[in-house]
Amino acid sequence: MIDFHSHVLPGIDDGSSCEEESLDMLRIAKSQGVITMLATPHFYAQNNSVGHFLKDREKSFNKLKACTEYMKDDAYPAIKLGAEVCYFNGIGQARELEKLCIEDTDAILLELPFTQWNKFVLQDVIMLMEERRLTVILAHIERFYAFQTRKKIWKEMLELPVIFQVNADFHDNRKKRKVVKKLIENDKPLILGSDCHNVENRKPNLISGYDYISDKYGKKMVEQIDNLGREVLGFDTK
Ligand SMILES: [Fe+2]
Repeated sequence: MIDFHSHVLPGIDDGSSCEEESLDMLRIAKSQGVITMLATPHFYAQNNSVGHFLKDREKSFNKLKACTEYMKDDAYPAIKLGAEVCYFNGIGQARELEKLCIEDTDAILLELPFTQWNKFVLQDVIMLMEERRLTVILAHIERFYAFQTRKKIWKEMLELPVIFQVNADFHDNRKKRKVVKKLIENDKPLILGSDCHNVENRKPNLISGYDYISDKYGKKMVEQIDNLGREVLGFDTK
C-alpha cells in the first residue's frame, strides 16, 4: 500500500512533533502494510515561500534520516517527499509550483478551501492541469462536500480529470461514505491517504480505509487504487 498523504516529517507543521514520533508513525504504517509513505507537510503561500519550505523540509527529513534506527532498520516504509499545497487565489499562475510536486513526478497534492468554492477555484485547478501540465490530486475530497451548498460547482469539480485522494477514515462518517460511494460508482480515479499527524488522535490508519473498501466494493477496487498510486509514482504496475 502507498500512503499518499501524511504529516510524518518531524517538527515542520502540525504533524509529528519529533523524530521519535515520526519513527513510531512509520512503524505503525509499516505494520499495516504500507511500503511507501508520502511526506506531505502543509504549504501555505501566505506565510512561506517555496524556497523556505523546501529548505525546512530537507532539514526535517535529514533529521529523520539521521536517526540510526531509521538508517539501519528496514522496518519502515520508504519516504517520498511532497507537500499538501493549500489553495490560494491565482495558484494556477504562481511561480515555482512545480517544485512542490511529489518527488520525481508531475503530481501536486492540492488542498482546496474549506469554504464554498467559486469559479475562480475551478479555473485555477483547470489552469494547473491544462497550462502547467500538472497532475492534480485533490486532498481528502470527502471533507469538502459539507461546505459546498452550490452543488453545481461541486459537480463541475468532480467532473475534472483530477485524481481524488480520500482519507482512510472516511467510512466513520455517513456523508463522507456517500461521497466516496458516488466516486466509486462513477469510476473516478481514487487514491488513499492516512493524513496521519501523530500517534494519538490522528494515527496512521491506511489499513482501515483499505479494509472497508475491500469489504464493501471488492478486492479489485483496492487493486485499482493501488495500481493508480503506483502509476502516479512511476512504479511498476502489474
Ligand atoms: Fe493533511
